[in-house]
Amino acid sequence: MPIIAPSVLSADFANLQRDVEMINQSEADWFHVDIMDGVFVPNLSFGLPVTKAIHRHAIKPLDVHLMIVDPDRYVGAFRDAGASMLTVHFEACTHLHRTIEAIHTAGMKAGVAINPHTPAAFLSEVLADLDLVLVMSVNPGFGGQQFIEHTYTKLMDLKRLREVTGSDALIEVDGGVNTSNASRLVESGADALVAGNFVFSSPDPSAAIASMKRV
Ligand code: DX5
Ligand code: ZN
Repeated sequence: MPIIAPSVLSADFANLQRDVEMINQSEADWFHVDIMDGVFVPNLSFGLPVTKAIHRHAIKPLDVHLMIVDPDRYVGAFRDAGASMLTVHFEACTHLHRTIEAIHTAGMKAGVAINPHTPAAFLSEVLADLDLVLVMSVNPGFGGQQFIEHTYTKLMDLKRLREVTGSDALIEVDGGVNTSNASRLVESGADALVAGNFVFSSPDPSAAIASMKRV
């Protein structure tokens, strides 16, 4: 069964504790926490105080996805805010290997996200050092966007590359994921599925999470 990581970006921020409790009680595995800086992506989301608030109530690991430039500056701060896994963007890191080391040294699992235009092969030199690869299946910045079909091919490429490099990184997919594409995503190589809009626009978010777990 895939790991399910509901994206808090689509939660009701005025009722955040209620939505955190819903995820706690559901079959979800992780909290997916989207941090946007208005520079790397065209949108702003939330930052450290909200991440800390989620962590105070969450009983499951925080999978923090940094969509920010120069993420090295915030590695320690997100560890202190409660991140278990910290994912940075390939496209935002000049010294990616150093950033991955810094995340590990800070005591977190390290992930790298790739945008739709970035080939899986660009991760060949770091894949063995990673705990997580996040494949963007939309252009990052907003919830509720249309899934990009080319993602299936990229997942298959990545799965092959993982074998070749002897990596045991988990492969996570993020953007436009729902129960219509989830099973093909898992068949193509996804170990973990992020879902924002699909979960939180459902009349029964907890049932929506359970239905993803069973695809
Ligand atoms: C997009 C974010 C996603 C987003 C996914 O930039 O990284 O995590 O919340 O949301 P949905 O599932 O609504 O596409
Ligand atoms: Zn995300």
